[in-house]
Amino acid sequence: MEKICIGMLGFGTVGTGVAKLLIENKEVISRRVGAEIVLKRIADIDIESKRDVELEDGILVNDADIILDDPEIAIVLEMIGGETIAKELMLKALKNGKHVVTANKALLAGHGTELYAAAAAGNAEIAFEASVGGCMPIIKTIRESLVGDSVRSMKGILNGTCNYILSKITDEGIDFSVALEQATKSGYAEADPTLDINGHDTAHKLAVIAALAFGVQVDFDDLYIEGITLITPLDIEYAGQFGYRIKLLAVAEHVGDNRIQARVHPTMVPFDNILSNVNGSLNAITINAVAVDDITLFGKGAGMMPTGAAVVGDIVDLARNIMHEASGRVPMLSFQQEHIENATVVPMDELESLYYIRFTAPDKPGILAKIAGVLGKYNISIESVTQKGRETTDFVPIVMLTHTAKEADVKKALEEIAKIDKSAPKPVLIRIDS
Ligand code: HSE
Repeated sequence: MEKICIGMLGFGTVGTGVAKLLIENKEVISRRVGAEIVLKRIADIDIESKRDVELEDGILVNDADIILDDPEIAIVLEMIGGETIAKELMLKALKNGKHVVTANKALLAGHGTELYAAAAAGNAEIAFEASVGGCMPIIKTIRESLVGDSVRSMKGILNGTCNYILSKITDEGIDFSVALEQATKSGYAEADPTLDINGHDTAHKLAVIAALAFGVQVDFDDLYIEGITLITPLDIEYAGQFGYRIKLLAVAEHVGDNRIQARVHPTMVPFDNILSNVNGSLNAITINAVAVDDITLFGKGAGMMPTGAAVVGDIVDLARNIMHEASGRVPMLSFQQEHIENATVVPMDELESLYYIRFTAPDKPGILAKIAGVLGKYNISIESVTQKGRETTDFVPIVMLTHTAKEADVKKALEEIAKIDKSAPKPVLIRIDS
């Protein structure tokens, strides 16, 4: 049987999952590809730590060039993460004509244009199913299953760590920091978990799939990004009373004339929306396209084996292409390179949404009327007001739900309301999914 050799750069959580699957499923994978997939080398700076997988002697090395300069290795797995050494090694692999499989969404979101061009120049491909949504086949769904249709929008939960934290606070009353520690121990969080909780990991993933779905280049810096660090148990409790769960949502929508909305922020999702019921480290995404209407995928969005399985799926795809000399048949970004267009991200000020606003206001007569007056001045219509009984402090929470309002108007109104009592804490604003 023919052999296809692969080399892996980085031997952390996902890399270990990949090695396990390639060893445990060796026979079935060979039957599917029609060739033996040989994990020839793994390079990592740490070749001493014990991993949860047994390797044959000589596979683990501490020099990436042993892989990159090996003419027998056709596929390189970039399992290092980050945007520095991973990029340098990926560029070298592509230059040497090796296909690359990666889960590195930060790298693709920030340097995709350069990397895809390097792949084309090296007659190589970059496969990145594992970069978004762990084991959910989101890339394949957009790039292959939906190519006959036109995607209008996508809305999803794309970070397992944030979803785990929000679920733990909501369902078990666990502290944010304890939940984050648990997510880190379970292998969901990034090496730097700030990227998870500040929304950037979700935004990296959104940039990757928006480019695929709409055939556009998205400038990552134009995305609106808000993480979950300011979400409090009090807001989660109010959300529940109003019939919502708070989720960190990624939203992308094609609004015509090469303009797209691309935003990441905590969102109150109604109980009857499927995304509201996706909890723990699970991810989910609803893709809305003209002919098919809604498709929702959900599954494990993070962790060693789910992400490892997505990487191995990409290896099989590339190996099948190699066997049939068909590399490049499916364009990496779904659209042919010369048909990828530049898109403008619609400024957040233009968003129209329902809003939850929690003011912490002085417990004095007339304050509520003043707040309502300012909202009215900016054309913001109030759907409901909740003020709980007197507390021991001088401030009370006043919670308002609005009808559809413009983000720019809401911002201006909140600036003016802040002047009513400068000692009052900043209001909490959470968008509501309608
Ligand atoms: N840190 C990521 C998450 C891992 O929590 O979803 C998968 O990309």
